[in-house]
Amino acid sequence: MSHRICVLFLSLLLISTTSVCVEEGFISVIISDKGLDFVKDILINQAIASIVVSQLPQIEKSVQVPLVGKAHVILSEITIKNIQVSSSSVETGDSAIVVVVSGATANLTLNWRYTVSSWLVPIGISDSGTATVKVEDMQVGLTVNLTNQGGTLKLSLLDYGCDVGELSIKMNGGAAWLYQVLVDAFKGNIRSAVEDAVSKKISEGIPTLDDLLQTLPKTISLDKTAALNVSFVNNPVLSNSSIELKINGLFSERKSVLVPQSYHKGSDHISVSNGDLPKMINISIHENVFKSASEVYFAADALQWILDELPNQSLLNTAEWKLIIPQLYKQYPNDDMNLNISVSSPPVIEVSDQDIDATISIDLIIDVLEAGEVIPVTCISVNISASFDVEIVRKSLTGRLKLKKFSTYLKWSKIGKLHMNVIQSLTSTVLKTVLIPYLNSQLKKGIPLPILKGFALENARILNTPPWIGVSSDVTFLGDYYLRHHLAYVS
Ligand SMILES: *[C@@H]1O[C@H](CO)[C@@H](O)[C@H](O)[C@H]1NC(C)=O
Ligand SMILES: *[C@@H]1O[C@H](CO)[C@@H](O)[C@H](O)[C@H]1NC(C)=O
Ligand SMILES: *[C@@H]1O[C@H](CO)[C@@H](O)[C@H](O)[C@H]1NC(C)=O
Ligand SMILES: *[C@@H]1O[C@H](CO)[C@@H](O)[C@H](O)[C@H]1NC(C)=O
Ligand SMILES: *[C@@H]1O[C@H](CO)[C@@H](O)[C@H](O)[C@H]1NC(C)=O
Ligand SMILES: *[C@@H]1O[C@H](CO)[C@@H](O)[C@H](O)[C@H]1NC(C)=O
Ligand SMILES: *[C@@H]1O[C@H](CO)[C@@H](O)[C@H](O)[C@H]1NC(C)=O
Ligand SMILES: *[C@@H]1O[C@H](CO)[C@@H](O)[C@H](O)[C@H]1NC(C)=O
Repeated sequence: MSHRICVLFLSLLLISTTSVCVEEGFISVIISDKGLDFVKDILINQAIASIVVSQLPQIEKSVQVPLVGKAHVILSEITIKNIQVSSSSVETGDSAIVVVVSGATANLTLNWRYTVSSWLVPIGISDSGTATVKVEDMQVGLTVNLTNQGGTLKLSLLDYGCDVGELSIKMNGGAAWLYQVLVDAFKGNIRSAVEDAVSKKISEGIPTLDDLLQTLPKTISLDKTAALNVSFVNNPVLSNSSIELKINGLFSERKSVLVPQSYHKGSDHISVSNGDLPKMINISIHENVFKSASEVYFAADALQWILDELPNQSLLNTAEWKLIIPQLYKQYPNDDMNLNISVSSPPVIEVSDQDIDATISIDLIIDVLEAGEVIPVTCISVNISASFDVEIVRKSLTGRLKLKKFSTYLKWSKIGKLHMNVIQSLTSTVLKTVLIPYLNSQLKKGIPLPILKGFALENARILNTPPWIGVSSDVTFLGDYYLRHHLAYVS
């Protein structure tokens, strides 16, 4: 990295900034140097792909050639055939991100043709052919910055440049004097044509990437009740080896029209790693994200269910309870029953070292259905203590709720006092066979992790540091099709 380009760009990293932290984000994404390298390589490959197909403008000149006369030379169809990058780097400073490609080589092909008119040869002669040009030691640099603009990320190009070092020309056919003309008179033009072409691609490419960033949603609707606020908060924090992005991350009541997101069903477990190797990204999710979910679903009365089907349907008839609760059968013989389960306060959710602890209080009301009427007969209050084992399925944080223990008391009863063991066994059956499996089916969707579409997680590792759940993971790129067409959260 000998060039002025590098010096110029790297100096931009040193501009120091004062960061003002105003808002709190409850999901944090840290892209490590390994992650930045990964992104840089994808972008360089994308850039090369777009440059290689491009054709440079034709170059035309009249040159006085000794002994030959005045030659009018045209170079056309100047095409960059391929580019090879031997080294590249991405550096982050306080206030910018610098990408430098150095020692790149490229091959060009072109067509040449000339006409010569002189007093010696009055008729005029002409010829045409092809040539290849080898560009060596090309340096490319660009400096971009990431800022938060109203909740989305703005990528701006601060500076860029391309510098071609060595350039050699090989002609197929043609006169010897022409070779000398190409070397003496056209080398500079070819050099700047290449430099301009590469610079132009950069100046077009960054706004395109920025457009893609602008298409990221600020809110993801999860179901009919809730939406997840994925607005970025504060400016990205650039340090010398990573970029940290903060996302609001809280659940809110779903309002009006939002882009719906579909989820993949089934369980596509991603590979899990136990090793301590550095990962590309670290995503941390604060306990408050789960708390906000709990509050939103509770406030929307979404945590209330009427169960009129059980795995053992006979339990939902008073006849089944004849011996255990004789007074129920006496009052309502052979009537069907249902269960009205409602969560009585927002579930308390806490991130612990190993998992997530949840405390859920429910009211379990037994209804008797008689002559088209629903008659609540008794209400059992239950405190459930459960744990939630976190796992990652595709790009969502999900897991399974496991019942740890529960306590009950009879809140009220219109059919007299019930035996403690009746209450216990009824509650246990309902929790184990109905409520917990039902909640698990609902929790399967999980919380979408902020991973761009077109990318997948690999070798994820979950590490809790209360009140945060941390996910360190590598990322794989599924192909540029997605990058161009569908840059968005979750699949
Ligand atoms: C990511 O998380 C892992 C494990 O928690 C930690 O060792 C590593 O330093 C983190 N990396 C960054 C860039 O914060
Ligand atoms: C350019 O062409 C030469 C010979 O045709 C080849 O050896 C070299 O690898 C090519 N360079 C690139 C960057 O593809
Ligand atoms: C880059 O963005 C940050 C905010 O993310 C800002 O503080 C800084 O001044 C910007 N740097 C430049 C060189 O504009
Ligand atoms: C990055 O910062 C750390 C501490 O903040 C320092 O030890 C390290 O040398 C820095 N690396 C570079 C390349 O500046
Ligand atoms: C989402 O979060 C952003 C940043 O914290 C905030 O400004 C915005 O009001 C939030 N939107 C909703 C719908 O809560
Ligand atoms: C249904 O529950 C009743 C009473 O608890 C029991 O006697 C019966 O065997 C159960 N049936 C099934 C299929 O589990
Ligand atoms: C279920 O019980 C709750 C009280 O816990 C009550 O507000 C609600 O109306 C009941 N639902 C039905 C359908 O009976
Ligand atoms: C459930 O917990 C609440 C608060 O911790 C307490 O007031 C209530 O008595 C408990 N109920 C049962 C059934 O243990």
